[in-house]
Amino acid sequence: MNKRDDFEYTLKDIFSLVLQLRENGTLEHGRDFKALLSCENPELHSFLYANARAVTEDRFGKKVYLRGLIEFSNFCKNDCFYCGLRAGNKKLERFRLTETEILDSCESGYAIGARTFVLQSGEDGFYTDDIICGIVSSIKKKYPDCAVTLSLGEKSKQSYLRFFEAGADRYLLRQESSYPEYYMRLHPAAMSCEKRLQCLWDLKEIGYQVGTGFMVDSPYQTVQDIITELDFMKQFEPQMVGLGPFISHCDTPFSTFPDGSADLTLRVISAVRLMLPDALIPATTALGSISEDCRTSAFASGANVVMVNVSPVFSREKYAIYDNKADTSFEELRRNIASLGLELEISRGDHKNFTQLNSARK
Ligand code: 5AD
Repeated sequence: MNKRDDFEYTLKDIFSLVLQLRENGTLEHGRDFKALLSCENPELHSFLYANARAVTEDRFGKKVYLRGLIEFSNFCKNDCFYCGLRAGNKKLERFRLTETEILDSCESGYAIGARTFVLQSGEDGFYTDDIICGIVSSIKKKYPDCAVTLSLGEKSKQSYLRFFEAGADRYLLRQESSYPEYYMRLHPAAMSCEKRLQCLWDLKEIGYQVGTGFMVDSPYQTVQDIITELDFMKQFEPQMVGLGPFISHCDTPFSTFPDGSADLTLRVISAVRLMLPDALIPATTALGSISEDCRTSAFASGANVVMVNVSPVFSREKYAIYDNKADTSFEELRRNIASLGLELEISRGDHKNFTQLNSARK
């Protein structure tokens, strides 16, 4: 065995790794991350969460940024092994929202204080670039004080550029995995890790605020796979990072795998906060679907964004990415956030490195 792998960490060593990560934004060795993420000591977990929360408060105070989420189509041409929206799931009843329904959803979002609208869908060819650009510009025209975030999957650089020129500010595209061998475990051969990463770099080059992320504790994932994603994100420097536990969906090839660990997800959120102190990190619906307490705990572990579903009620249950997806009311989320002494912030909530290029466009 390699001597380095043989290194024995005491609990004290692991506590000091938390401080090192906070101080330097990284750790010296991959094995340090492994020791930190694998440690099952509850006091160490609390120490990690508290440090991540302290860094969040240094940068953002007590604010939690609110986003209005509009899930506007559950059609998808892809066949990702984990996702209930996969093309191969013939049991799912599909829906598409019209532009009017999307604008009505924005209105509901605006009324509760959302100043960012996140438009998310499966990879649905029905919405041409012209249609998307039309929707984005209508929203920007009606709500000039709001940001628009798109989450439509993989597109050409030309399409991303057109959406940006139409007024889109941000784009969410989780890498899922930046390591081809693990990426292939989650996706059919028609999809490629390389293409995914190219999309992310294209988005960044165009000037979007970009969100990456991945599922924690997904089938076949090792701690080393998680460390690979942390390394990728440290290098990519996304403005947003979405992290949630894997949750199985009964009509997918991964139906028999157990749900991912919420605790490990919280530790990964904390590690990302210490590595990317300015990142916007949502307390995800996947965490809320394990239990609403888990989502609340995410704020105490370094998350600072909440997405409230403002889509029409008739379509919500059809956007079934995984089983038992939480549909928590704004009021309940607000109460839970307030119970931690935190407050919802009514503003666009841009990343600090919101570039000149972005502001110049407006
Ligand atoms: N469990 C948890 N998260 C999932 N996603 C898709 N399917 C699942 C699942 N079964 C996540 C993916 C995707 C995001 C929209 O939802 O990471 O990028």
